[in-house]
Amino acid sequence: MTTTPISSKLASGSANNPLFDLTGKTAIVTGTSRGLGQDFARALAKAGADIVLTSRNRASLSAFEAEIRALGRRTVALDLDVRYQHSIEAMVSAAESAFGHLDILVNNAGFNIRKPALEVTWEDWNVILDTNLRGSFFMAQAVARRMIKAKYGRIINIGSVTSVAGYAGLGPYGASRGGIRQLTMSLADDWGKHGITVNCLAPGWFRTEQNKALYEDPEWVQYLIERIPIKRPGEPHDLDGPIVFLASKSSRYITGQTILIDGGISTGGLRALGKAKVPESDV
Ligand SMILES: NC(=O)c1ccc[n+]([C@@H]2O[C@H](COP(=O)([O-])OP(=O)(O)OC[C@H]3O[C@@H](n4cnc5c(N)ncnc54)[C@H](OP(=O)(O)O)[C@@H]3O)[C@@H](O)[C@H]2O)c1
Repeated sequence: MTTTPISSKLASGSANNPLFDLTGKTAIVTGTSRGLGQDFARALAKAGADIVLTSRNRASLSAFEAEIRALGRRTVALDLDVRYQHSIEAMVSAAESAFGHLDILVNNAGFNIRKPALEVTWEDWNVILDTNLRGSFFMAQAVARRMIKAKYGRIINIGSVTSVAGYAGLGPYGASRGGIRQLTMSLADDWGKHGITVNCLAPGWFRTEQNKALYEDPEWVQYLIERIPIKRPGEPHDLDGPIVFLASKSSRYITGQTILIDGGISTGGLRALGKAKVPESDV
């Protein structure tokens, strides 16, 4: 099944629908050298936002930077390693100097090591939790300090289906994503009075660099599809609408929430039925 890219309809700053128009807003999207980070940045740019791009290797961003400019948006590419507080502070200061205001943060930078729990090392645990959980917290803190002065902000933490469900081989990763869901609720309570909403967008199974080895096994792909009510893995454009919605004024009364974009896999319904016959869906 193929889907129509919603982002193509969002071109020209969503000018036809002010509810989703991000013209004049600045969005930091962390981890935009590849994968979902680029999809989020592209969708926000098409809705009108200027974009701060980041990578541990800024040179790797040049082609994507040109793509964002070609959409008619301003952009800057900055170095960022979320494991280090000085790197976070330097990036956020440079972003503020470049654009004068920071309105949207997408905490996308993330890392995973897939291993049976008995093989996980102390170092594996630290790099996963330091990147995904501590990094997201201190990114949010640095950006919120600026947003509070402006009395406006949209913080979108990227979670995962592992924010709400357990999977073998994903112990530390799942702990980091469960933590992101909890962090989202706490920060929403902290900063709501300052006009800042904090939500978690939790993708299901999307094929990217991070998990491409899994998708090389057709049997596993079939197994996965059988467990997804919408009967296919996620495609990047499935995230366009949700990210723009959470970044826009249309989501102004939603905060502290985790929204799963997962084709329904987190319902667990099909897994619970085991081998029972399930009718074909026409979705
Ligand atoms: N793919 C999925 O199905 C899926 C599902 C749910 C959630 N997620 C989450 O969504 C996010 C993006 O996933 P993806 O599949 O696109 O991953 P990916 O292809 O591995 O990309 C990860 C991005 O994070 C950046 N990054 C990694 N470590 C970093 C660090 N220490 N400091 C700063 N940036 C760092 C990388 O940039 P550099 O290497 O250039 O620094 C890269 O741009 C991740 O947080 C992931 O856990 C993915």
